Amino acid sequence: MSTPHIAAKKPCLVTLKRKGKAYFWCQCGLSKSQPFCDGSHNGTGFEPLIYKAQKDGEEVLFCACKQTKNPPFCDGSHNALDDSYEEASQEDIAASASLPIIPPDEKGKAVLDGGCYVVTPTKTTAHHVGGWQIRPVIAGRDGARFLSQFLLQPGPDAQALAVEGSEMVLFLNQGSAHITIGGKIFKAGPQTGFYVRPGEGFHARSLSDTPIELSCVICPTGPEPTPLDTMPDIFDDRIPQRMMAMDPAKRQTMADRFYQVLVGEDMGSKQVTQFIGEIPRSRAAAHRHLYEEAITILSGEGFMWTENARAAVKPGDVIFLPKKQLHSLECTSESGMRLMGAFYPAGSPAINY
Ligand code: FES
Repeated sequence: MSTPHIAAKKPCLVTLKRKGKAYFWCQCGLSKSQPFCDGSHNGTGFEPLIYKAQKDGEEVLFCACKQTKNPPFCDGSHNALDDSYEEASQEDIAASASLPIIPPDEKGKAVLDGGCYVVTPTKTTAHHVGGWQIRPVIAGRDGARFLSQFLLQPGPDAQALAVEGSEMVLFLNQGSAHITIGGKIFKAGPQTGFYVRPGEGFHARSLSDTPIELSCVICPTGPEPTPLDTMPDIFDDRIPQRMMAMDPAKRQTMADRFYQVLVGEDMGSKQVTQFIGEIPRSRAAAHRHLYEEAITILSGEGFMWTENARAAVKPGDVIFLPKKQLHSLECTSESGMRLMGAFYPAGSPAINY
């Protein structure tokens, strides 16, 4: 036996009992006790891989397809086992056909199951501080436990902004700008991501008459960025590269869809990953993530589905997705859908279960 058997095309969520306890992960794929070894590997040339729990009650997604490059953990490789991403079955589509479409309330928010919601940021209440227009989009009062999101528009006299103790990932939604982090200036076009380390401040200035708009995700969740009279003289030189635009060479494909990490562990981000992705006209099979996520729709229309309801999504809308919430994002546009996501804890956007 030279290649492992594909036991399943999704990982197994398991809770490991206590720190230091050894678990034997099946590498051959023949075990009937996935993801753990039951001895079926005898004579195959495969051996189980031993993993010791890092903490009491550690929750992990162990690979069951046996194609992962990061054993014993799922790394999303199961998404590339077929020509197309796993889509909702005809039975699921028929069963959900009568689920209600939740209309947005007067603040532009449509609440789905488990605290998941879709919000139109321009319908939320804006306030002005330090020369910025700030719209809270995701906050602790909305049920977010790990991240916050704000929509920011700088005026001509906008001051520097900072948040104490949290990482920030920025995304230039529209316009061209000079983004200053600490004393370093980055020139960027639309749909570019930026990483701001704890203790650093940032500033943004449009390079044309077109107003610019930034999505700002703060992790751990906290208060909105605070205006400062002067930019903090702090820039972590160990990580000089803070900006990432779309680059076809950096795309990761998942069957008929792709994503590109803009800000992640490679850039030094410890808490949060930011990515851009594209999906074709399709409705993914319902699935879950072990992370809490904020998704901004950049182009295309469709629906966000949870167990008992759905909400329409369109460009500019933001989806708050709690950890472990069953969901499916449907794209109804012929030209597909582009989205930007940011999630905690940092990792691969391909990992689902
Ligand atoms: S189940 Fe194997 S990589 Fe996800």
